[in-house]
Amino acid sequence: MEQLVGKVHHVELVVGNAKQAAYYYRKAFGFDQVAYRGPETGDPTRASYVLRQGDIWMILTTPLHHLDSLNNWLTLHGDGVRDIALEVADVDAAYAHAVAGGAVGEAPPRDHQDAAGTVRTATIRTFGEVLHTMVQRRDYPGFLPGFAPCEVRGIPTGLTFIDHIVGNVEDRQMERWVDWYDRTLGLGRFVSYDDKDISTEYTALRSTVVASADRVLKFPLNEPADGLRKSQIQEYIDANVTAGVQHIALACDDILAAITALRANGVEFLTVPRGYYGNLWDRVGEIGEDRDRVRDLGILVDRDDQGYLLQLFTRPVQDRPTLFIEIIQRRGSNSFGKGNFKALFETIEQEQALRGNL
Ligand code: FE2
Repeated sequence: MEQLVGKVHHVELVVGNAKQAAYYYRKAFGFDQVAYRGPETGDPTRASYVLRQGDIWMILTTPLHHLDSLNNWLTLHGDGVRDIALEVADVDAAYAHAVAGGAVGEAPPRDHQDAAGTVRTATIRTFGEVLHTMVQRRDYPGFLPGFAPCEVRGIPTGLTFIDHIVGNVEDRQMERWVDWYDRTLGLGRFVSYDDKDISTEYTALRSTVVASADRVLKFPLNEPADGLRKSQIQEYIDANVTAGVQHIALACDDILAAITALRANGVEFLTVPRGYYGNLWDRVGEIGEDRDRVRDLGILVDRDDQGYLLQLFTRPVQDRPTLFIEIIQRRGSNSFGKGNFKALFETIEQEQALRGNL
């Protein structure tokens, strides 16, 4: 079957103050601000800043009017991901397929036009209050119609593309959403981790990754599992009120340089438990990077039968314990760091306990 959807076109975050959020993502993560839409460009209702680094495109949007329904979204969820927009070759066909497969339509196919050209989009609803807008670009030269180009340069930190985006769904809802992605967008089951793979002494979760045939799109879906204490996924659901996007994984070609730059910019990362590096090299064997620098930067390493990967997770990027960012460099491995789950989740539990949520 021909693939219905291509790569992520952009991720849109709704935030309480897009001007300040844009500053944070520029200064901390090194994004350029490349386009803007707001009152000055003819949209009096919302302000949107478009940020770009490598092939990562993010929109930060804030409602300007107190009656805007986006305020309800913010009241429920706080700052977070509202739309994972996907490139499609034929938006009418992709939308019809998704709706026939059971997707709830948010907006049917329609054209967006400005002097530079036309882009056609349609939008469906996925888990929680998250959307997938399908974008058929044709040959539109800019970002999207209605956005005015601007150029506010960040200092790049070497982030290149979106590797995967993770959704947290409610208890016992994971299989339903795995099935939903198959029926609506043609994403198949790529790999599953059960609560034996992902558990600590206290808490657990289950995860299944759905992916496009070319593996460009990868969406892990997590659900809480029973443990002695509250699952970190349940903490997320409680803070977000519904299912939602837990993390965005951003790829890079030199994670030592990227983490050095991000730390210098003040990005806060999770700290792995003491002892993580004690048996790490026995577990993952030879790597191409300097082991001392990997340890000093607090980077996690995992290996599977195809290669290895290096990864590190930020602390939540807003006050609610919801969205965070992963930095990842793949060296052959196509997996998601299963060997790091236990160490990582013990760290998350330490932070959960500090918040009084464990
Ligand atoms: Fe991840």
